[in-house]
Amino acid sequence: MFKVFSSLVLGFLLFVASSHAANKVVGVGELCKQTKNPSFCLGLLNSNPGGKDLVSLGQYTIDVVRANATNTITLLKSLVAKSGRDPKANAHYKKCLEHFESDEGVLGDIQDTQEALKSGDYLGVNVHASALLDEVDDCISGESPGESPFPDRSLLPKYGGVMQQITSIILVISKYLAA
Ligand SMILES: *[C@@H]1O[C@H](CO)[C@@H](O)[C@H](O)[C@H]1NC(C)=O
Repeated sequence: MFKVFSSLVLGFLLFVASSHAANKVVGVGELCKQTKNPSFCLGLLNSNPGGKDLVSLGQYTIDVVRANATNTITLLKSLVAKSGRDPKANAHYKKCLEHFESDEGVLGDIQDTQEALKSGDYLGVNVHASALLDEVDDCISGESPGESPFPDRSLLPKYGGVMQQITSIILVISKYLAA
């Protein structure tokens, strides 16, 4: 009897603890202070039209990074089409495009991050967002201006860089949610 009661109490406390985390409000100033580019982060989070709690901010941030992934896929398609005469660049953009579109690549990572947030698996949010960061990095590394042998060098690192900044905001949010 006591066991049943105590597990009910424990279950209730866990429920309270997790719904407390989900509704938690942390100031955008405090969140953004922990990113590499606080002013970018503030601009993004302050443009969120939805709720101010961590889950709503996380959701908004995931939506933006998904939109940016779609833009980057469009960019990559045009880069693949334009780089036909440069086999090295062409191979790189093709590989990149595959990484972005794959269920195990960028779009898959974004989907996994989204599902983890929905199900309250905040550690999972962190894990999948970290994987996303790596996937994007694989694609833009060696593409920083001045270093790249590829044409159109400014746009791909720029788009990828934006995605990384946004992903780093998701990581900070996930830390507060998992705390
Ligand atoms: C990223 O997405 C946001 C919101 O849709 C948009 O304002 C911004 O221009 C996008 N940036 C890139 C590089 O795709």
